[in-house]
Amino acid sequence: MAGSDHLLAIRDIHTYYGDSYVLHGLSLELSQGRIVVILGRNGMGKTTLIRSIAGLTPPRRGDILFEGHSLIGKPPYEIAQSGMAIVPQGRRIFQSLTVRENLMLPTSALAGRRKSGNPDRKRWDLASILAEFPQLAERMDNTGNALSGGEQQMLAIGRALMANPSLILMDEPSEGLAPKLVQKIEEIMRNLRNHGHAILLVEQNLALALSVADSIYVISSGRFVFHGTAEELSRNAEILDSHVGVAAAH
Ligand SMILES: Nc1ncnc2c1ncn2[C@@H]1O[C@H](COP(=O)(O)OP(=O)(O)OP(=O)(O)O)[C@@H](O)[C@H]1O
Ligand SMILES: [Mg+2]
Repeated sequence: MAGSDHLLAIRDIHTYYGDSYVLHGLSLELSQGRIVVILGRNGMGKTTLIRSIAGLTPPRRGDILFEGHSLIGKPPYEIAQSGMAIVPQGRRIFQSLTVRENLMLPTSALAGRRKSGNPDRKRWDLASILAEFPQLAERMDNTGNALSGGEQQMLAIGRALMANPSLILMDEPSEGLAPKLVQKIEEIMRNLRNHGHAILLVEQNLALALSVADSIYVISSGRFVFHGTAEELSRNAEILDSHVGVAAAH
């Protein structure tokens, strides 16, 4: 991996929507088989960071290295094919399609393409995804709109796995889920890490971040104001009060 053991390395990226300057020089590193959490309140730039990595809103300055290769200038489909998948905010599954159709349709063309990366990482197909999420297996012929919020989230994650990504970008998977389902999401993320996947998770939910993160960055108005372990963050009252807030404490 070109002299670096980081799966993903972001170097001082600056991202805009037109004249609106949103990400003010972010840098981060993520290694194979790790979970990095970006924690921040509404509108701080979490989704914009994911959009920057995925090539949807490319940064105007800075570099993003994936497996040692720069993603700058590459179109989103090429970035996806290089081995990353997004679980988007609000889940975005096809409501009128069945669970089976949701899993088979959108990303199946990418499945199995990925040959390089961590050799120990689990390779997924429909059968192994259903074994991981038995609840989905029971609902294969139900349409998306008949699923609970938690099942929709599992489907969104299952769909991402169909592309066999080495890196999974997750945008607020706990949003709108009851605490018990948030625990289920935690469990799923730990299992994915055990299977050798790397996860970049953006969240507002402090408890979820603390429970799964190998490393946490706190984002505020497009800048990282903290980087450390869950234990270090939980001892930093100033950052928690100023930049994480009560909304994250449920
Ligand atoms: N398409 C867009 N055009 C212009 N400004 C945008 C666009 N999308 C987001 N923004 C602005 O960029 C900033 C960061 O937004 P972003 O969606 O990245 O925040 P977020 O941390 O994901 O918030 P949330 O937790 O609510 O999802 C906000 O000020 C937002 O209004
Ligand atoms: Mg967002």
